[in-house]
Amino acid sequence: MTTTDATAPRWSDQQVNELLRANDELKALNQRLSQTQEQLVQSEKLASIGLLAAGVAHEINNPVGYIFSNVASLEKYLEDVFRVLSAYEACELEHAGHPAAQHLRALRQEVDLDYLKQDIPTLMRETQEGIARVRKIVQDLKDFSHVDARRQWEWVNLHKGIDSTLNIVNHEIKYKASVVKQYGELPEVHCLPSELNQVFLNLLVNAAHAITKERGVITIRTGTAADQVWIEVEDDGCGINADNLKRVFDPFFTTKPIGKGTGLGLSLSYGIVKKHGGRIEVDSELGRGTRFKVWLPIEPAETDA
Ligand SMILES: Nc1ncnc2c1ncn2[C@@H]1O[C@H](COP(=O)(O)OP(=O)(O)O)[C@@H](O)[C@H]1O
Ligand SMILES: [Mg+2]
Repeated sequence: MTTTDATAPRWSDQQVNELLRANDELKALNQRLSQTQEQLVQSEKLASIGLLAAGVAHEINNPVGYIFSNVASLEKYLEDVFRVLSAYEACELEHAGHPAAQHLRALRQEVDLDYLKQDIPTLMRETQEGIARVRKIVQDLKDFSHVDARRQWEWVNLHKGIDSTLNIVNHEIKYKASVVKQYGELPEVHCLPSELNQVFLNLLVNAAHAITKERGVITIRTGTAADQVWIEVEDDGCGINADNLKRVFDPFFTTKPIGKGTGLGLSLSYGIVKKHGGRIEVDSELGRGTRFKVWLPIEPAETDA
């Protein structure tokens, strides 16, 4: 037996469909809203990391500058000191029987002067190399975070951005893979450099994470086609299966353990590239490796500057 409630509204099929459709739309809208919010939070974070990096780089720059120049002066002074030492040594030999000469000789043997003379120049050279490297990293950090011109559309040479990004993620890559660069000719591109660097960073770190063999190869290629440029990052790592391949750009999609992956790298990169009027293609084969290809217009038609 069925009872009908006289107070309950009666919906026509059409109204029900309408409601369901409206509900679906709301759900989709809601999801887009939370994704956008997530991206905003992320880009805020990136902006603060960029600022932090640039701040640290700026602070290190100064002391590194004087260490660099002091080491150069020190090297010159040491040459002089060595010259004086040689003169003393000659004296010591000339007056071999004299107590002062005997004292000098004992002292020379105690500190192993011959070894010092050999080792000091080597130490100086290594120190200079080390400082030159610190300087380079500081410069790369500055370039990477582009703090001087944050969030400005600029005409830039993308190879520079890729190279400084490579230096920054070098510690993630160097023990796992060799990097092969096959750069083509690239015109300057109108873009937000610090954001594109973020894209390169994500692709490079992902490539390094994907390497499973003893030592892999990460190949970076660039080129131009009509009014677009492309940048490819290819690895010979684990590859991505067909199911996952459909989801790699989804926010929070990750196959990595907690702490290693957030699942945001590619979704953010996707957003950044889209903002530049470009697109990202991915091609992967399980066990063979993966290739991401970023296409960017040389001059985006519309930029949300
Ligand atoms: N080069 C790659 N090789 C294999 N899998 C990849 C590669 N790049 C991305 N992936 C897959 O896509 C997922 C999402 O990548 P990403 O958005 O950068 O997040 P995360 O690196 O934090 O996991 C990764 O967890 C991984 O499963
Ligand atoms: Mg990642």
